[in-house]
Amino acid sequence: MFTARNLGAVACFVAVSTMGSSIAVAFSGGPPPNLNGSTASGGATCAQCHQNSAGGAGSVQILGVPTLYEPGATYTLTVRIADPIQVGAGYQFSVEDATGAFIGTLGTLDTGSQLNAGFINHTSTGVATSLTNWVSLGNAAEYQFTWQAPATGAGDLTFWAIGNAIDDSFTNQGDLLYLTNKTAGAVAPVPTVSEWGLVVMLITLLTAGTIIMVRQRSRALLVRSRG
Ligand code: HEC
Repeated sequence: MFTARNLGAVACFVAVSTMGSSIAVAFSGGPPPNLNGSTASGGATCAQCHQNSAGGAGSVQILGVPTLYEPGATYTLTVRIADPIQVGAGYQFSVEDATGAFIGTLGTLDTGSQLNAGFINHTSTGVATSLTNWVSLGNAAEYQFTWQAPATGAGDLTFWAIGNAIDDSFTNQGDLLYLTNKTAGAVAPVPTVSEWGLVVMLITLLTAGTIIMVRQRSRALLVRSRG
């Protein structure tokens, strides 16, 4: 019997067989990589397969991105996909430099997400969880994971996310795609030359001040002992 679910599985099978072996294992558990609109993706998105019913009133947000990242520090990030008419969501995320190289280390916190060739994205468990928690999160799904900054600063980085808000029809029709990105710079690891200049100046002033005070005090003591 062809239920909606069976049709979904068939659509999935057809898509996989026509798209070639590179993504042959990608589907039941999550999307192929290079589809979040990033530099590494060459701007490609899930719209390659998902009919993007344009003009959705929802959004995707990346929460927890620092303005400046600390080299070596680990950040917990959240991709939140909200939509007033849909019922669940999947996503794909990456952190890249200006050339599209993946920077730092992404890590999962639960079975709702998985690493995928430089990207992190939903699993089928993640999609199931998103359907369960959709209403309690305010018509939204939240995927949480970690990103560890590289040990040495790698300059300005871009955090890229795509969210696919789904109607749970088990097909690639009727979905709403949302894209966003955020940029973070590296915290300067040591003071710059001009900052060092200020530090030296401050120390000199403090030392000079201390010497003057000590001298005045000892002169005052001398005067008192004479008087
Ligand atoms: C090669 C084609 C293809 C690409 C690319 C693709 N999808 Fe899909 N996707 C499908 C098909 C077909 C289905 C329906 C069958 C199914 O549910 O497994 C589907 C289903 C889904 C579902 C519902 C899954 C479920 O278990 O109900 C989500 C969420 C999803 N895709 C997210 C994405 C996201 C996010 C991207 C981009 C990062 C993406 N897809 C890219 C073909 C694709």
